[in-house]
Amino acid sequence: MKRITVSSLTKSFPDEVAVDHVTLEVNPGEFFVIVGPTGCGKTTFLKLVAGLIKQDEGNIYFDGENVNDISPARRRVRMIFENNALYPHLKVHDDRGYSNLNFPLKIQKYGVGLIKKKVMEVVHRLGIPAKLFNRKPGELSEGQKQQVALGRALTVPPEVILFDEPLRDLDPQTREESRKEVMRAHRDYDATSLYVTHDLAEGFSLGDRVAIMKEGKFVQVGTPEEILQEPATAFVRSFTESYQSVYREAFLE
Ligand SMILES: Nc1ncnc2c1ncn2[C@@H]1O[C@H](COP(=O)(O)OP(=O)(O)OP(=O)(O)O)[C@@H](O)[C@H]1O
Ligand SMILES: [Mg+2]
Repeated sequence: MKRITVSSLTKSFPDEVAVDHVTLEVNPGEFFVIVGPTGCGKTTFLKLVAGLIKQDEGNIYFDGENVNDISPARRRVRMIFENNALYPHLKVHDDRGYSNLNFPLKIQKYGVGLIKKKVMEVVHRLGIPAKLFNRKPGELSEGQKQQVALGRALTVPPEVILFDEPLRDLDPQTREESRKEVMRAHRDYDATSLYVTHDLAEGFSLGDRVAIMKEGKFVQVGTPEEILQEPATAFVRSFTESYQSVYREAFLE
């Protein structure tokens, strides 16, 4: 379990400041959710933590160690993207060669037997049908691609998991099941997780704490109860409005 600390983290693009002096501490083992409207900087924030892009200002620490100059691979974080970056030329799964599901295990030089066992574990957990094994990503539906991407991310135990709307394109039932798998993976691996979603209800039901993000800033960070009881700004109040009555019943009565 890792403690993630970011201080004054800032990233600008030519037209705007995508992440604007964000300071945050995520506790070891916490499931931390970021919710906010499109374009507010959620993906950019995750990419900074993963090391896929470099901040203009500020620092990132894992367990107190500054990781600013540590490569993404050596940060040992697993990022699950909204538009899952599967390897287009590889099959979903292949016992003999490289495949999407076994790739992280192969490059970490796990033995053949262990690879098979770990792949089969995630296949069963996520209910990925065997008929998909021989297909390449171009032959899968969006939901199937997301399941494979989630499976691939979970084959090697990660210490930090960054979820970028991994369930966005799933139908409600698959979404509910996959949500359980996300939580189970988080707990089983004792991971510290950052989870981005547009769906406030999903964020409030999964998150130990939630950040409401707007225009590159975290306008409020707190437990769902705290945010609903005392919205910090008019934006948070209106953003959470439709959930106020539901959650008042659940939390306060
Ligand atoms: N490589 C880039 N070059 C220029 N601008 C970018 C780049 N990446 C992101 N941006 C801009 O930075 C802002 C934040 O983008 P980001 O992808 O982090 O938003 P987001 O909150 O993840 O949105 P969504 O919910 O739509 O995925 C957006 O206005 C986006 O247009
Ligand atoms: Mg995004």
